[in-house]
Amino acid sequence: MSRKTRLVILVSGSGTNLQAIIDACESGEVPADVTIVISNVSDAYALERARKHNIKAVFVNKSGFKSRTDYDRELISILRENEIDLVILAGYMLLVGPEFVRAFEGKIMNIHPALLPSFPGTHSVKDALDYGVKVSGVTVHFVDEGLDTGPIIFQEAVPVVENDTVETLHNRIHQAEYRIYPEAIKLFAERRLKIEGRRVKILEKGEL
Ligand code: GRF
Repeated sequence: MSRKTRLVILVSGSGTNLQAIIDACESGEVPADVTIVISNVSDAYALERARKHNIKAVFVNKSGFKSRTDYDRELISILRENEIDLVILAGYMLLVGPEFVRAFEGKIMNIHPALLPSFPGTHSVKDALDYGVKVSGVTVHFVDEGLDTGPIIFQEAVPVVENDTVETLHNRIHQAEYRIYPEAIKLFAERRLKIEGRRVKILEKGEL
């Protein structure tokens, strides 16, 4: 039998998506292991969550590197040492550089709290609310060299309700995130995601 898919989760903050992924892997719902969690923020609560599950938790200090490329090379080498199959960005507040994207092409996923291509960037929940949309949502996508531009795996709509604040809307979006991010990882682990240009085809079980 082939081994389980090995995940690295890159984080910068609280890590509630990380928690949903850990739980889905531990329950056996997703045939993958969270092998290592890496944060660019030393006191990110996500690191604590990883440690509670005996998962390797590493802070990599970007300011300790001469350049962005050197920092990315360090990440690449940690990922290779840990034989990582899939890179999961979960609230990771840095852009991954071109060298990193090339090293793990088609093997990096991100989750974004809006329906891309609307509202890319770091303030998407606020931007959508300020714009006055009635529906926002979540996008899980593969990462390419652009900002939130890679091929889309899943999207789920989330309604905006009267008197929503950034916090209430983001909470509602989070609930969708906790369902669809593990599901996308599961499909990857089952080798059922096929990138064809901008489209991601979801294969039936056994249809390879
Ligand atoms: C999520 O809303 C995700 O879509 C965005 O950053 C947030 C991370 O939240 N990229 P958490 O750290 O997983 O709680």
